[in-house]
Amino acid sequence: MAEMMPQSALVPDSDYIIIGGTGDLALRKIFPALFWRFLDGQVTSSFRLIAAARQEISKKDFADRLRPFCEEALYHADTKDTDFELFLKLVHLVKLDILSGEGADRLATLVHEKAKADRPCIFYLAVAPSLFGPSCQLLKSAGVVLPQSRLVVEKPLGHDYASAEAIGTELQAVFDEKQIYRIDHYLGKETVQNLMALRFANVIFESQWNNAAIDHVQITVAETVGVGQRASYYDDSGAIRDMVQNHILQLVCLVAMEPPSHFDADQVRDEKLRVLRALRTPDLGDVMRGQYQDYEAELGKSSNTETYVALKLAVNNWRWAGVPFYVRTGKKLATRASEIVITFKSKPHDIFANGRSSADQDDLPNRLIIRLQPAEGVKLQLISKEPGPGGMRLFPAELNLSFDDTFGGRLPDAYERLLMDTARGNQTLFMRHDEVLAAWAFIDPILRDTAERPPALYKAGTFGPEDNLSGQGPSFWIDPQSDFRSEQPDSHS
Ligand code: NDP
Ligand code: BG6
Repeated sequence: MAEMMPQSALVPDSDYIIIGGTGDLALRKIFPALFWRFLDGQVTSSFRLIAAARQEISKKDFADRLRPFCEEALYHADTKDTDFELFLKLVHLVKLDILSGEGADRLATLVHEKAKADRPCIFYLAVAPSLFGPSCQLLKSAGVVLPQSRLVVEKPLGHDYASAEAIGTELQAVFDEKQIYRIDHYLGKETVQNLMALRFANVIFESQWNNAAIDHVQITVAETVGVGQRASYYDDSGAIRDMVQNHILQLVCLVAMEPPSHFDADQVRDEKLRVLRALRTPDLGDVMRGQYQDYEAELGKSSNTETYVALKLAVNNWRWAGVPFYVRTGKKLATRASEIVITFKSKPHDIFANGRSSADQDDLPNRLIIRLQPAEGVKLQLISKEPGPGGMRLFPAELNLSFDDTFGGRLPDAYERLLMDTARGNQTLFMRHDEVLAAWAFIDPILRDTAERPPALYKAGTFGPEDNLSGQGPSFWIDPQSDFRSEQPDSHS
């Protein structure tokens, strides 16, 4: 079997039971991630992968449906012809109806065949949230909730605070909080985790990581795709619920949190929770909602749902007082790119004022740009001297850490890391119930205050509506660069 990823942590032999195992999430994300981990040797032939769904499906049909989603792994240079067949041997298919309970006996028999205290048994609810409660009750009545059981769920974890609280109550009625793994797939992304390494494994940034040195923070999560097939889900959700309540607030937390004393699940989550609780409700002028121009035509009805949102956030604490966090996300934007840009304060005094080659070159502040995707990397913008005689001409240059150039190879998908963490019992990259609630407590008033306001229309292929956050001006946003790796400072010429 192929050895593609270096130094993968050992994972105990486990059973993954994917309820909703024939659905889009299971076929597009969960099983391909398990296949990559199988190719890497983390998932061994002692694992069992049980796909449970209402429909009766043969192994061959399941394989035919799954294969297109595993193409990248199948065509990898190190993958052998037999690997997919060997992987499929781990798969068991169970016909199960959560609502009627049909098939629960068969599932229970399968689970008990291998049940052992040191063999994690992971139930992944890849079904609609309305089925989370009934699924938990069925697992309980079938007698398969054991001390070694774990439960994995993912968004949408509620539509607002009250519904999120109700989901939490349903899960906690059957599983202990220590057994519940709430996925925010952004936390499984390599560069998102690297943000913690950058901050807490290096000494040079921490002393600058505050309102004395930082002017403002910008977070952009831009997508080029529209809502497509998901229009009916999306229209009930909108960008604030779909992206800000979860992924973007998690990014804000990782930028703003205090250093935990250990990289330990509860300590990391305690610190993130403090950030969420320190967020001040933005004024109406600090929320900009947009909708791309052909959204209503795609949806087939009129709608106030935002496909774009920009917010000016304030983290109300000693470290961040006076430092705005500008965040924006949207569909059908100019480029697919996610970046965090930390803009440092301007120099207090300019000793080179007489040696300037042009007014706007050397006046740029230092910036730390963390590119989350694609072309992952970190850049530090510095002002340097232009080589050669002719006076002290300054220009912006960059220290550039490209993940691809430095580490090479493929970066694992977020689900690969997160799925292995569930088996290893590591909850650090999963959201705790109180975090989810704190995020909704922040979001609810924004939703309430903006619900009746029609979103501003924007053209597809732009970076959202023109009048983007009151008073900031058109050149305020730092747009992601189209090619992060090879970009050269353009003001040098
Ligand atoms: P799908 O509709 O594609 O799949 C739903 C799955 O649930 C199917 O396997 C279906 O089986 C099964 N199911 C439905 N009802 C029952 C039942 N009564 N008993 C047993 N199984 C049942 O949905 P998705 O996979 O897209 O989404 C699942 C959940 O994950 C949703 O909450 C979604 O919001 C969330 N999610 C999805 C993402 C994605 O990329 N798709 C990303 C993040 C979250 P059958 O076909 O036999 O009825
Ligand atoms: C999902 C949202 O959670 O994240 C989608 O529901 C969005 O609307 C997706 O497209 C973005 O994820 P990624 O990993 O492509 O940035």
